[in-house]
Amino acid sequence: MIAMKAVILVGGEGTRLRPLTCNIPKAVVPVLNRPFLEHLLRYLKRHGITDVILAMGYQPAPIQKCLGDGAQLGVRLTYSVEDSPLGTAGAVKLAASLIDDTFLVFNGDVLTDIDLTGMMQRHREIKPKMSIALTPVDNPTAYGVVETDAHGMVRRFVEKPPPDKVTTNMINAGIYILEPEVMEMIPPATRFMFEHNVFPQLLEKGAPVLAYPSQAYWVDIGTPQKYLQAHDDLLRETGTPINIEGGSTIDTKAQLTGPLLIGDGCTIAAGVSIKGPAVLGARCVIGKGATIEGSVLWDGVQIGEGVSVHQSIIGSCSRVCGQVEGSVLGDNVTVLKGLPPGSRVWPDGKVEAGVPLK
Ligand code: GTP
Repeated sequence: MIAMKAVILVGGEGTRLRPLTCNIPKAVVPVLNRPFLEHLLRYLKRHGITDVILAMGYQPAPIQKCLGDGAQLGVRLTYSVEDSPLGTAGAVKLAASLIDDTFLVFNGDVLTDIDLTGMMQRHREIKPKMSIALTPVDNPTAYGVVETDAHGMVRRFVEKPPPDKVTTNMINAGIYILEPEVMEMIPPATRFMFEHNVFPQLLEKGAPVLAYPSQAYWVDIGTPQKYLQAHDDLLRETGTPINIEGGSTIDTKAQLTGPLLIGDGCTIAAGVSIKGPAVLGARCVIGKGATIEGSVLWDGVQIGEGVSVHQSIIGSCSRVCGQVEGSVLGDNVTVLKGLPPGSRVWPDGKVEAGVPLK
């Protein structure tokens, strides 16, 4: 097995996932009731990567609190914290003293099954300056598109191309293998991005950049829609329709249809219908006759009697007493009457219109 250190970039503000990321960073939002990074770290460990540097900036404390030194997951975590955001490449430069060999870089919001072992082997064989994993998407216009030549080397990077300029549907999957000398191209203590600065410069200098295209599962959890989709995919993958973590009180007249995950200590009253894919965090209380479908509820959420919650994400300790559909509610909000589909409710109670989640 090839051992490499990995840097995970977790310093972004996660603005697209707001209002869920008002109180906690995207890296530790719950996914199947576990901090997201746990899924990523377990994946890395499956590929023999146990030495991990977390490059942090925005809200580092909740990440450290969730993961500690990583021992519980069988990995060794080192923290590198920026005073101000240094961008994806600047963040890696800050951690340079911790790196002395070929290493991996990960966007901290990627949930994937890409064959990392295969990618590392290919990098060792071909010996480029950098390898980049590519994944196909239906609509690449919101992503960094990567064009390759007949030998599988990168020819061009195009950030967010307009529809008439799309030449391939293969995009940057946010997973790179770098030779340490690439860090010489990154100025210290300066905001610098791989996507806009380092990659184009590498190609300009004629440095070989290897593409590692993969059809394996890949989703970035950076938007509410994708966050819901990741749950849907992961729940189906468990193979068990109804997963109950323990200690819940579920009325015999409640109707549960998988795939579902119900966290510790929930109370589910008579006549409730929960239709998967759906996740309830710990200590949720679902009132009589309520309906929950295609939604993710964080810990301590209360749903009132007869209320329906469809295709929505509800932050911790929020109380919902009116219909919610395709909406995203932050932590600790109270909704007393129905909301227009697609609403975004901020922890301070402000309601904004948004695109309904499907
Ligand atoms: P949005 O604000 O919604 O775009 O999210 P983001 O900036 O958190 O994430 P984006 O997808 O733009 O960035 C990809 C990855 O890089 C994410 O895991 C971010 O946490 C991380 N990242 C972005 N900027 C920085 C930075 O300045 N420092 C560090 N350490 N990480 C960063």
